[in-house]
Amino acid sequence: MKIFVLTGAGVSAESGLGTFRDKDGVWTKYDLETVATPEGFARNPVLVRDFYNARRANLMDAAPNAAHFALARLEAELAARGDELWLCTQNVDDLHEKAGSRRVVHMHGELAVTRCHYCQATCPDRGALTAEAVCGACGRAGGARPHVVWFGEMPLHMDEIEDALAEADLFVSIGTSGSVYPAAGFVTQARAMGIATCEINLEPSANAYVFDEKRYGPASRIVPAWVQDVLGA
Ligand code: APR
Repeated sequence: MKIFVLTGAGVSAESGLGTFRDKDGVWTKYDLETVATPEGFARNPVLVRDFYNARRANLMDAAPNAAHFALARLEAELAARGDELWLCTQNVDDLHEKAGSRRVVHMHGELAVTRCHYCQATCPDRGALTAEAVCGACGRAGGARPHVVWFGEMPLHMDEIEDALAEADLFVSIGTSGSVYPAAGFVTQARAMGIATCEINLEPSANAYVFDEKRYGPASRIVPAWVQDVLGA
């Protein structure tokens, strides 16, 4: 059996990392055109770097919750019996890795990685993004940006993701509002390929009507219970 899990900000909410579109979400406090687009970075790189530096600082203190640990356990136990978990996240945090997940595909990039705007070289980096930083690959200064996918940019690893989804027996969406494509379209693609689908979220998402099975409540409670059901079945 192959299970494809897609996670969103809701899986990290109980770890203290804010979601985007809930009450008090990131996009209720910041203008996404200003801080999360290539045009915004070109207009005001200082403000954009400050925004991501604050999010990097939050990441340092954040710890995985029971949902992240349950998914790491699921990966290990499925592998032990010859099955497979394919974990794809829209999150730019590293809480799946901190919980012990071994293979995590970050389709929206990673906050703790810096990318050079000029040559696109990436390197792990949890420190503050600065205008003075010199790229280790091309030697130019002033191009340091977070390795996150901004609005108007292509998500990462899409070929790999499409292949994994096509091979799945079950597609499970956890903690996402289902409002950002292409991830929001995975459930429809899965349904069209005859793959069983399940939504786990605090409340019905924009795509709730497409899913076969739905489980609602906090991820820290619902995900471990779902993992137990999968492994016990
Ligand atoms: N447990 C489960 N679900 C939760 C919890 C929780 N404790 N708290 C909130 N949620 C749900 C909300 O009900 C909401 O449906 O998580 C979802 C979060 O939705 P968004 O804030 O829209 O986050 P996400 O879907 O991950 O956003 C997608 O948008 O801005 C971009 O690139 C950013 O990757 C992000 C993308």
